Amino acid sequence: MIKKYTMGSPIETEAVTAVIEPGDFSDFPFEHDAKNGKFSFGFSMSEDDIIYGLGEANRGINKRGWVYESYCSDDPFHTETKSSLYAAHNFLLVGSGKPFGIFIDFPARIRWDIGYTKSDRLEITLDGADFDIYLVYGGSPREIAREFRSIIGKSYIPPFWAFGYQQSRWSYHNAEAVDRVIEGYNSAGIPLDCVYLDIDYMERYKDFTVDSEAFPDFESYVAEKRAQGIHLIPIIDAGIKKEEGYSVYEEGRDRGYFCKRADGSDFEGGVWPGVCGFPDFLRPEVRRWFGEKYRALTDIGIDGFWNDMNEPAIFYSVEGIENALEKAASLKGENLDLGGFFSLKDTFTGLSNSQSDYSSIYHTVNGEQVNHQRVHNIYGSSMTRAAGEYFAESFGEEKILMFSRASYIGAHRTSGIWFGDNHSWWSHILLNLKMLPGANMCGFLYCGADLGGFNENATRDLVLRFLALGVFTPLMRNHSALGTRDQECFRFEKPEDFRDIIEVRYRLIPYLYETFRKASEENEMIFRPLSFDYPDDPVARECETQLMLGEECMIAPVYEQNAGGRTVYLPEDMTFVRLSGTRETVEKLGKGLHYVSVALSEVPLFIKKGKRIPLCMPAMRTGDLRADKAEWLGE
Ligand code: GLC
Repeated sequence: MIKKYTMGSPIETEAVTAVIEPGDFSDFPFEHDAKNGKFSFGFSMSEDDIIYGLGEANRGINKRGWVYESYCSDDPFHTETKSSLYAAHNFLLVGSGKPFGIFIDFPARIRWDIGYTKSDRLEITLDGADFDIYLVYGGSPREIAREFRSIIGKSYIPPFWAFGYQQSRWSYHNAEAVDRVIEGYNSAGIPLDCVYLDIDYMERYKDFTVDSEAFPDFESYVAEKRAQGIHLIPIIDAGIKKEEGYSVYEEGRDRGYFCKRADGSDFEGGVWPGVCGFPDFLRPEVRRWFGEKYRALTDIGIDGFWNDMNEPAIFYSVEGIENALEKAASLKGENLDLGGFFSLKDTFTGLSNSQSDYSSIYHTVNGEQVNHQRVHNIYGSSMTRAAGEYFAESFGEEKILMFSRASYIGAHRTSGIWFGDNHSWWSHILLNLKMLPGANMCGFLYCGADLGGFNENATRDLVLRFLALGVFTPLMRNHSALGTRDQECFRFEKPEDFRDIIEVRYRLIPYLYETFRKASEENEMIFRPLSFDYPDDPVARECETQLMLGEECMIAPVYEQNAGGRTVYLPEDMTFVRLSGTRETVEKLGKGLHYVSVALSEVPLFIKKGKRIPLCMPAMRTGDLRADKAEWLGE
């Protein structure tokens, strides 16, 4: 059962596709308050309430004990005390005797104090008082998640090849660099379906252009790679470089399509290309215009994209940098004391993604000027929607790969997401695992993290263990940052270990793909916390390092360095399978705690009693997989 409560005149986000009439607000069941233009409400949590949700968010599967903020943020340090990452997924599920879900359809900032100020109180504060709140009641957490999904529309399904292994780096600067990657994988016999083009494929970081020195005949090159079974996936950023003669910029400016300042002039901010205009993606005509721009690349054979920097990331505004430079100039020759020095330093470090810049941006919503802060969380998803809607219309469903960094619920209908700039840290294997059920609850099924970690140098064992989690995530992409150690599988000693892991992925693809399709069609989660399936099992209820996968499996990756295995909890008797290349060892284990040894070249998998999964033979490309020739694993 779903109840909707509306206050004021909410901004239409189109997150919910079902038509639901709002109920009488006097029936709103929680203590609430509207002060200083902010609406807040809250309730007491019982000791054994598990709080799930918030999608791609920091910390645990159980969100208790921290304060989170829905505010899409370009923050590359996903340390434990951060409150906001790239997404705003405003769905929370209170799992207790009588579980219920809360979706707050409100695109400005929301603060979720989940037992942070008072350990038994959940307090939610909206930066505004115009919103729709949906309460979902009845049944188990799994049923509530399914019911919520039924009102937000079906999840995006990517093309089949997007389940293949994908290699990325910031950046493969030219065709030779891309070729070296493909050759490296081919000669190590490691399967591969996609290679990514990060910002350097463009001409001076201008969207929808290709640097003709780096890729002299891009169209033929794309065709040549396709003939080798490889998809090239270029990045598209939100900011449009301000440059005379660059048609996308000139069109955007001349048609008035960029976001504005209060005085009606174009807001200008710096990102990778330098000063940019930011398309006002909230306007349908701007989305249509931007969506069609992807044709420059689809016309020459590109069939996948990743949308980036769309929170939006703003390194500096033109005003901000001028003020900072003036301040620095005024201090020249001064003997800076502690306060003076740090104030100068903060002036520069505070330039990026600054609240005063966001507050100075205006959008046009239904012909009216709306401050960016009121709609911040739908900016990135509107960019991705522009692309996704264009692709679905022009190419049909399941043809174009599309995923985004920033997102809001609703974008799950036309795209996937990746979890942004994680680190090559062991703790991030678990952090990324914990994001999966939350993202699934909010409709984002096609998702995954930068395997091996994006920032800083990875070690061989970390990449292998990260990949062994990635074997199960719909998006299986290894990506790393500029200046970090090479992270492609064939660069490390004993590449055959990497081949063993990635071959397991290809063996599982028909199963994973069917599980994915089913989850999209039936509004199911692919990944569930153990507590969803075993609500009365106290150990399962607290488990934060394992997940249920589909109806058949449980996953439990190794997440610590120098560990030859891990302790795993079986909530019922299961078949433990160690998969490695085309080999597998099978062992029956009883309910309870076990230490299982897992070599670096092995993927651990647990199959439930009475369940079977198909395993096909691996291939170098997804197109060569033979799902009809699968063997069955399990009982
Ligand atoms: C951002 C993205 C990252 C990309 C980089 C350069 O940091 O999150 O994936 O490699 O920009 O485009």
